[in-house]
Amino acid sequence: MFQESKRYKINRIMSDILILGIESSCDDTSASVIKNGVLLSNVTAGQAVHERYGGVVPELASRAHQQNIIPVVHEAVSEAGIDKSDLSAVAFTRGPGLLGSLMVGASFAKGFAQALDIPLIDVNHLQAHVLAHFISQGDPDEKKPAFPFLCLLVSGGNSQIILVRSYHDMKIIGQTIDDAAGEAFDKCAKVMGLPYPGGPEVDRLSQTGNPKAFKFSKPQIKEYDYSFSGLKTSFLYLLRDKVKENPAFIQENLADLCASLQDTVVDILMKKLKQAAKDLKINQVALSGGVSANSALRKTLIETGRKSGWDVYIPPFSFTTDNAAMIAMTGYFKYLNNDFCGLGEVPYARINCTL
Ligand code: KG4
Repeated sequence: MFQESKRYKINRIMSDILILGIESSCDDTSASVIKNGVLLSNVTAGQAVHERYGGVVPELASRAHQQNIIPVVHEAVSEAGIDKSDLSAVAFTRGPGLLGSLMVGASFAKGFAQALDIPLIDVNHLQAHVLAHFISQGDPDEKKPAFPFLCLLVSGGNSQIILVRSYHDMKIIGQTIDDAAGEAFDKCAKVMGLPYPGGPEVDRLSQTGNPKAFKFSKPQIKEYDYSFSGLKTSFLYLLRDKVKENPAFIQENLADLCASLQDTVVDILMKKLKQAAKDLKINQVALSGGVSANSALRKTLIETGRKSGWDVYIPPFSFTTDNAAMIAMTGYFKYLNNDFCGLGEVPYARINCTL
């Protein structure tokens, strides 16, 4: 009986639509309230516990979600200035992500929705990253992408080019066949002895480095797909050989190594994006995911957009990294579509579904 999604009588003319979004796919526990598509709150608790391991430890992430979820939801509801009984539905990240982490958010969302007797909405994390571009903060001058558009989604776990035809119709036209772009930054940073997550550190150190100081291998992959494992290996081999000759090589060349790594990642990402925009004749291009904070990627995207006649959309950083506002926003669009789920839906770890 729990497989069935309950039929709710939704009276949209009479009432505001208030969606609670819950995100717990990796190492951020986040909750947000959105009212009629406008953000009221977005509260995120990070997990410092992973720093000493140089990456996210799944078991520790699940435990930290358990500790954080109730206070985070409580804060999101009170910051929104509402009572939980005002909520219209609960949206949660169903996947892809770390299974143990997803289960915490999914179980909480199920219990909460059932206790309030309101609909439950399952959200695909990647679709939510794309729809983050539509989160409104109430400013009438906010610019939103027009359909169809291309979204470059780059984070610690994802590197995709997504063709977005509508809120509910999206297709992954290219994706990494191995590591994600953020993972490449983080893993290369780790071998240079930089703290986790390495992406922001590489970006910061690159500011004074020469991006053409070192050359790393670039992938030859079909169509719009990506690969970053070759870059990681070529980076590792360069360090290994140079450190043999000079043990202080990394310290003496840190800025140049970071700048060259960053330049290579940006070049790989932009090449496929430019090709896709050209082939599909699309001039609306959006950026999503944690790596969109990267200064060189932003600069190159804006410059390329100017040269190619694209309209470029880069949302505020709080909406590009993992956050529940994008889950609530996607939940809002699904609510308008009467697209609810049953209590029997289970999280999925991999991208095994259409967006
Ligand atoms: O979307 P996100 O918060 O969550 C995951 O998918 O894990 O993305 C995190 C990723 C990490 O790999 C981090 O190193 C990277 O985004 N990142 C950056 C920058 N800021 C965050 N990478 C390069 N430059 C940055 N400024």
